Amino acid sequence: MSAIKRTHPSADRNSQPISEALLSQVDKQTPNLRLLEIASGSGQHAGFLAPLLPNISYQTTEYSRQDFNSISAYVTDCTTGNICPPLFVDISQELQQWEAGTLQQVKPGSYDYMLNCNMMHISPWNCSVGLFRAAGQLLKSGGKLFTYGPYAQDGQLTPQSNVDFDADLRRRNSTWGIRDIRDLKQLAETNGLKLDRVTDMPSNNKFLTWLKL
Ligand SMILES: C[S@@+](CC[C@H](N)C(=O)[O-])C[C@H]1O[C@@H](n2cnc3c(N)ncnc32)[C@H](O)[C@@H]1O
Repeated sequence: MSAIKRTHPSADRNSQPISEALLSQVDKQTPNLRLLEIASGSGQHAGFLAPLLPNISYQTTEYSRQDFNSISAYVTDCTTGNICPPLFVDISQELQQWEAGTLQQVKPGSYDYMLNCNMMHISPWNCSVGLFRAAGQLLKSGGKLFTYGPYAQDGQLTPQSNVDFDADLRRRNSTWGIRDIRDLKQLAETNGLKLDRVTDMPSNNKFLTWLKL
């Protein structure tokens, strides 16, 4: 494996369950489908998932330019050749403010799927707002946004380990914190999406499927 490809212990653990949830909900036959990942991080999920979805072009994006080398190494090493090099995306920004180079490649209504793992709780609320806004604009009708991470439900956060995690996040940065599905449903509704499925995942995480109407 290339030296600049980074891996995270959490992604080592969650890549397989994420792949199972994702593969059961995407079209694995139709050629030339398109997926946009927001916050690709190290690129490890792209490297794991894209070879399992050879009919889907997997566009990586990142906010931290320090991650670009690692993501690019996963692009280069991908045996199925369906990972696209990272584009810069600050998801808190309105689509019109995205970099020109990104906007040239990311067209409204052109994505079948979007994927976002482990970002909403570890970024300001306006990143969650921007994620649903972008999904409303970039997904085709009938497209799906998949989000993965820990969530509260109707004001209830369980178990205690997630309560402790949330408190730690908010201590580190007062704009971070585990999001409530109830609040995300409102963002979804504002942007023409609805919650379609909730899949319980290991380590008290969830995989949420949001359908673009
Ligand atoms: C915990 S990492 C998750 C990375 C990867 N998705 C994973 O699951 O391994 C959080 C990610 O959120 C991204 N992020 C933070 N603020 C962001 C923003 N304004 N726009 C887009 N991504 C952002 C970080 O750059 C980082 O990639």
